[in-house]
Amino acid sequence: RLSERRDVGAAKGEGDTTMAANKKLLILPGDGIGVEVMGEVRRVIDWMGKKRRLSFDIAEDKVGGAAIDAHGTPLTDEAMAKAQGVDAVLFGAVGGPKWDSLPFAQKPERGLLRLRKEMELFANLRPAIVFDALVDASTLKPEVVKGLDIMILRELTGGVYFGTPRGIETLPDGQRRGINTQVYTTNEIRRVAAVAFELARKRKNRVCSAEKANVMESGVLWREEVTRLHQESYQDVELTHMYADNCAMQLLRNPRQFDVIVTDNLFGDILSDEAAMLTGSLGMLPSASLGAADSSGRRKALYEPVHGSAPDIAGQGLANPVAALMSFAMALRYSFDLAEDADLVEEAVRKTLDKGIRTGDIAGPGTVEKVGTKGMGDAVLGQLTALAG
Ligand code: IPM
Ligand code: MG
Repeated sequence: RLSERRDVGAAKGEGDTTMAANKKLLILPGDGIGVEVMGEVRRVIDWMGKKRRLSFDIAEDKVGGAAIDAHGTPLTDEAMAKAQGVDAVLFGAVGGPKWDSLPFAQKPERGLLRLRKEMELFANLRPAIVFDALVDASTLKPEVVKGLDIMILRELTGGVYFGTPRGIETLPDGQRRGINTQVYTTNEIRRVAAVAFELARKRKNRVCSAEKANVMESGVLWREEVTRLHQESYQDVELTHMYADNCAMQLLRNPRQFDVIVTDNLFGDILSDEAAMLTGSLGMLPSASLGAADSSGRRKALYEPVHGSAPDIAGQGLANPVAALMSFAMALRYSFDLAEDADLVEEAVRKTLDKGIRTGDIAGPGTVEKVGTKGMGDAVLGQLTALAG
């Protein structure tokens, strides 16, 4: 069960925390605004250390273009090994125009894909929440998105992202042919579906599974396996199925009909961007990528904002750090079982928004003060202190 994470370092607020093993974090800021937003996460971690007596062992390394520049590869073996050894990886963002023309296998994005694949982070949780204070930031009408709280669960280590054969080949007549393979096995489907049902039980108890069973065999299998698992173990959860294209449409028409949406890697990539934008800005959306629980209940985990490296505003101190801060809150919740501390971070963000403090991406009606990355970090820290300092 997701809620039953055992935590060796959870001696917070009682007894001698030095007796417990420290929580181990690896921070991979990456490129572009990844660096800036992770700086604000660092400050919140420091605050937690001082005020909440949460001690973290923090390592930092390079990923993406930064690693290419320093080491000639988007992720070194040493960094990969560090990621395997920590309780949670906090990831910023990768990519930028500087590395766009590199061959496919050497691009910054490969660093992220390698982490996902080698850590077996098959379950990607992408919540989309509309804060009341930001209901006007959405391009959709307030009455459609007000109170929205959905969870996209994206399969992250299978499907067309990793399927073989893949590549570009030259045909005898001189044409070229690009090939990718969509492939899913029973177990890959069942393990992510199980996470969907577990999540739903702690939310509104509804799962919608999205595929293209009308055109793809992998979609037929997906639907059958999700249905079978539901029959076997999760009949208390309401399950519906939708074709992924219809799901994309329904997300715009009436997004609040959904609770948990579970879908494959590629559809999840697309639907989660769409769901994110319902909230007004990609700068608001966190994510968690989890592996299977080991015998002690521990899951490998990587937390990252859904937004990318945003080269257009990188280095200017303008980026919204909220998605990264909320990703850290997810780490507190899912890797360390510290729901109270996670709530605290989320509440501090909510209060900051209620006060009308906005970065450029979410500025609009209701803005009282427009701030940059650091200003938003300051405001959230201020609220943290007011709530629990
Ligand atoms: C995401 C991104 C990645 C993906 C890229 C950066 C490889 O779009 O996390 O959604 O396609 O998975
Ligand atoms: Mg994406």
